[in-house]
Amino acid sequence: MSDNHLRLGVNIDHVATVRNARGGAYPDPLRAAKLAEEAGADGITAHLREDRRHISDADIDGLMEILSVPLNFEMAATPEMQQIALRHKPHAVCIVPEKREERTTEGGLEVAREENKLAHYIAPLREAGCRVSIFIAADQSQIEAAHRIGAEVIELHTGAYCDAHAEGRMDEAARELESLRDMSAFAHSLGLEVHAGHGLTYDTVKPIAAFPEVRELNIGHFLIGEAIFRGLTPAIAEMRRLMDEARA
Ligand code: PXP
Repeated sequence: MSDNHLRLGVNIDHVATVRNARGGAYPDPLRAAKLAEEAGADGITAHLREDRRHISDADIDGLMEILSVPLNFEMAATPEMQQIALRHKPHAVCIVPEKREERTTEGGLEVAREENKLAHYIAPLREAGCRVSIFIAADQSQIEAAHRIGAEVIELHTGAYCDAHAEGRMDEAARELESLRDMSAFAHSLGLEVHAGHGLTYDTVKPIAAFPEVRELNIGHFLIGEAIFRGLTPAIAEMRRLMDEARA
């Protein structure tokens, strides 16, 4: 794989959302994960939320068993999730903020004010061999704090950029994009690996994919929605094509 290759992590949470709407066994997120893998996903992302609204503990057990590509295990910084991660030792653990009442992960993690606590929290995960990623806003002080606590990776929250773009607030989208670009370069200069994600679509992916410091994008909700119309494999293939085009 070339050094310029931008990895695509496919988030399968919302296959589980649809399954859970009826409480049965289908659609099966594990089947989606295998299909995504065959369609060229470089990794699979799954968020085990405290309330288990989509991905379940059994899904994580299954993913660990069947995947050939790395699992990026998203979780809140709770003792329960730390135990689960230490039991499975996934390739990567992405620490995200979590509020019960939110519909999705609304903002980045507050690292700067929780530095000591988070440093202690991630230490055993790193010792277990997991790459620890911190999901944060494009904010210099948060990036510096993520670096100080010993994270190897940051994932920049692209939600504000995508929301502004979707709602036609183009000046704001451009400003958000500028800070994402500056903060990708800043994080990279500290030696952090830079990932990005949240809310990305065919319309918003290319400017982010073009940042040379970004090594991985994690994309879920849009792809799973698009799969209804064109199937999961073509939906992923089109995202891959746009990422490669932006990168060329
Ligand atoms: N990255 C992180 C850290 C996330 O929490 C999520 C949403 O679970 C995503 C990426 C993917 O976001 P979306 O589903 O909007 O593509």
